[in-house]
Amino acid sequence: MIKIIDCGSQLTHNIARRIREFGVYTEIVPYNQTDTILADFKSKHNNSLDDILEGIIVSGGQYSVYDKGSPLYTKDIFSANVPILGICYGHQSIAYLLGGDVIPANTREYGRTKIRIIEDNKNNNSNNRLFKDLPNEFNVWMSHGDIVGKMPLGFEAIAFSENGHIASMQKDNIYTLQFHPEVDHTENGRKILENFLNICNAKKTWNPSKIYDKIIDGITAQTKGKIIIGGISGGIDSTAASVLMKNICGNNYHPIFINNGLLRMDEENEVMAYCAKLGIDIDYVDASNEFLQKLKGIENPDDKRKIIGHAFIKVFEEAAKKFGKADCLMQGTLYPDVIESVSIYGSSSKIKRHHNVGGLPDKMGLEVIEPFRSLFKDEVRAIAQKLGLPKEIIWRHPFPGPGLAVRIVGEVTTEKLDLLKQADKIFIDEIKSRNIYYNISQAFAVLTNAKSIGVMGDEGNYQGIIALRAVTTNDFMTSDWYEFKKDDLTAIANKIINQVKGINRVVYDITQKPPGTIEWE
Ligand code: XMP
Repeated sequence: MIKIIDCGSQLTHNIARRIREFGVYTEIVPYNQTDTILADFKSKHNNSLDDILEGIIVSGGQYSVYDKGSPLYTKDIFSANVPILGICYGHQSIAYLLGGDVIPANTREYGRTKIRIIEDNKNNNSNNRLFKDLPNEFNVWMSHGDIVGKMPLGFEAIAFSENGHIASMQKDNIYTLQFHPEVDHTENGRKILENFLNICNAKKTWNPSKIYDKIIDGITAQTKGKIIIGGISGGIDSTAASVLMKNICGNNYHPIFINNGLLRMDEENEVMAYCAKLGIDIDYVDASNEFLQKLKGIENPDDKRKIIGHAFIKVFEEAAKKFGKADCLMQGTLYPDVIESVSIYGSSSKIKRHHNVGGLPDKMGLEVIEPFRSLFKDEVRAIAQKLGLPKEIIWRHPFPGPGLAVRIVGEVTTEKLDLLKQADKIFIDEIKSRNIYYNISQAFAVLTNAKSIGVMGDEGNYQGIIALRAVTTNDFMTSDWYEFKKDDLTAIANKIINQVKGINRVVYDITQKPPGTIEWE
């Protein structure tokens, strides 16, 4: 197993994802809990293969090592006697902790930068195994203002950037990279990580069918004879988790679907229909009036999320009473959610309040069951396939818990919801009928709070503006906008303007993430 020390980079998940793609098990540890790595190392050394520490990766982060509160982990990791790889801030913090100098660079390096590998080293097998089988020069993705000015004793530079900065250094089994091998923009990034895994002699113990059996065994043992309630939204995570729970717990599992009035057009009926087909017996609660009342007059996105989150807890608690004293609560939490809620810096949970059921278990005093807690989205998709879920659910675009409330800029009203639902339905139906739905990772309409002048017939009018958003992404941490054919986009915009009374203009959002986010609020 590889442990990744999280120093706050948004890209830490990408490192974990890449390592798992090679079939190697990995876990992320916040930088200030690093001592647990060593404790685990000692206590589990003779346990299953998944538990044996084979290497450590130190992630990037937005801090300088000299900043107050900069994420500095324990130096004890250097005595763990396993290979270590530092990335970006990891490179600088390793230099700093081992007695080198980190200094502000004259030329900061952001984005594409060429690096050159030291030839002598490359041919010497015992040294530069990190760049084994790679060209002497290639482009990498950098994002830093500081550089390693002086290496710690015994280290040698094994690659330089085109600006003459140390791009990589090494001593014994400690390797560092100033750039990010975990992003697609770095040429040979995967190969560098694979080389590191080979240096670690990491075993390929991670595969989806093994995870599946492990999850089934774990939940079977955890739920024996217990009453379990769970929230279901109709999305891939909670639907796959519900099918799994139903298979294991039968009638002891009670999934609750709450209509918060912020769903897309007809969504509640669609979800109920396909869950019935999957044999999931849902308890349906229509709480739309309650949610919409509470949102009256609220404009701030964070306030909207908080109100929706609290209302959800209250309604869910009330609905659960019907099943007497439940023992457990099932949540469709994924690994990135777990990490975002413990990560100290820079995680997207700090930007938005994403998790709507977070307060439930404490409030209700229930044991939590999270079948997918250690998985990424694509791993859940593999399990959903195994469970026989149809393609339409497995590849359904994600929909946020606070629903259309974060797609209506400003106050949510029933009139605005009505406009947005119509526009969104036209958009989604059109991309489906044009066979491009599955080329897009997430698409939706947003009701802006702007109005504009238009002419329809011979009359002028002053009406609302719909923004269309369609993005491509694998991990939803970064995204690009989808390049529509002009004819498709024109037809969709015309249809919305012609059919949705109150909308006279449609714009297309071409913001990447970062700097934007996928949702508008
Ligand atoms: P952002 O807007 O942060 O979105 O780039 C990334 C992904 O997360 C979804 N999202 C949410 N999901 N509750 C959720 O359950 C939320 O409050 C929330 N906000 C964003 C978003 O739809 C996208 O898939």
